[in-house]
Amino acid sequence: MPGLIIDGKPVDVPTGATVLEAARKLGIDIPTLCFAPGFEAGAGCMVCAVRIDGKLRPSCATVAREGMVVESETADIMSARRQAAELILRHHAGDCEAPCQTVFPTGLHIPAMLRLVAAGKFDSALELVLRETPLLSLVAEVEDAPYERACRRAQHDGAVNIGGIVKHLSARENQQGTPSAPACREKINRKALLNSPGATGLAAAYFLLREGVSCAVCGKIQELPFPGDMAREIRRLEQMGLETTVGSAPEPDVIISPPESNPAQPDNVFICREEPNLFACLRAGRKLAGEVLRYLKIDAGTFSRRRSVHLGSISPEEMAVFLKNASAEARTEFSGKTAAAEISREAKRCLHCDCRAAADCRLREVAEKLGASFSRHGDRPFAFAVRDHNPRIIYEPGKCIACGLCEKLSEKNGVTAGLCLVGRGLGIKAGMPLDDWSRLAQLAQAEEYARVCPAGALALRD
Ligand code: SF4
Ligand code: SF4
Ligand code: FES
Repeated sequence: MPGLIIDGKPVDVPTGATVLEAARKLGIDIPTLCFAPGFEAGAGCMVCAVRIDGKLRPSCATVAREGMVVESETADIMSARRQAAELILRHHAGDCEAPCQTVFPTGLHIPAMLRLVAAGKFDSALELVLRETPLLSLVAEVEDAPYERACRRAQHDGAVNIGGIVKHLSARENQQGTPSAPACREKINRKALLNSPGATGLAAAYFLLREGVSCAVCGKIQELPFPGDMAREIRRLEQMGLETTVGSAPEPDVIISPPESNPAQPDNVFICREEPNLFACLRAGRKLAGEVLRYLKIDAGTFSRRRSVHLGSISPEEMAVFLKNASAEARTEFSGKTAAAEISREAKRCLHCDCRAAADCRLREVAEKLGASFSRHGDRPFAFAVRDHNPRIIYEPGKCIACGLCEKLSEKNGVTAGLCLVGRGLGIKAGMPLDDWSRLAQLAQAEEYARVCPAGALALRD
């Protein structure tokens, strides 16, 4: 049983254990990417680097030895891990979030919405939109919306009519009579008082109510300079629990006020600025809600905007890859009488630029934790590519970090002629023997492959 010292702390581990296991025994958090428990370490990514005898070593693949002295948390080790993650991100040929989603002020998952609309699931699409979009009937009235201008399909034959689809969902809701409200968490005995809120304040209230914070309005809700059905939006907020009839809430935990009303600002008073642009208000309201939640010590993780790799400009060949599974029809403009089937057809023009693994991608999580830069300088060495022969799983070779975990999983599951590493040098990627991609269609255990892949290269379709 070798004993070693990590960051000045002694630890004993069974013979054959790795430095990573020893560190974890001490509760030291070392990130990993190309290593997964139950598989032999590949030692390829170096995000798990530690310093032993003055040299950087992969902790996942270094066996602990008696008397070893290991450093794991110095600034230079953190910098080496960060650089290792940045190198991988620079090579990553894919977007974490679609361009439209990145631009939407509250991060609405537009490609997911379009998939639901394309499948004719309008109620589910509306539910999804309402989970992230305050003041929907106002948002639906915005002409020339920036999220539509950002649409990648605009580079080919016209942006997807996302604005028209949002408008259609809003109109459908209107026809139902009663506004729908998103699911809200159980009330948590925390109260916010909003002084004369405008769009920013109401957006903040929307997110706070969703997270279970009680909200009451003091004074009048401001007249908003944006078109839309405000009465519907107030009814929606009331359905979520907003109290609009009280003059003040008894002992609020937090007060949200316009700047002029609070010259002296105690800790629990949050200044709420109304912006001249609706989307700027929604963005500011969401940010404010996150700050209030943090102040109230409520988990505000979902309010932090996640970082994203962006493909940037794409080549005509890459556009052809995107277009392969999208409808070839030209953009359709809608009128109030446009049939639902036509709306679904327009949604099928979406190129699905998003990464299906974005929510639980280990690469993204590790890179964020290490403070790595997600921006790419210079050219991308790998083109965006998709292998979609399998009904359950998509493979994007440009995201593969050649960790070999999928190959090891195939070996473990006794799958012959499954995914395996092919190529040379930097170009090594998971591939199919003899380049026979039709075999990918037979790949079973899709969930296991998607789970084991650390970089979103293998991801479930839905
Ligand atoms: S093609 Fe679809 S996913 Fe891509 S930017 Fe346009 S709407 Fe978003
Ligand atoms: S596709 Fe295979 S080799 Fe490539 S990153 Fe994913 S698990 Fe690793
Ligand atoms: S080298 Fe250890 S996790 Fe990649």
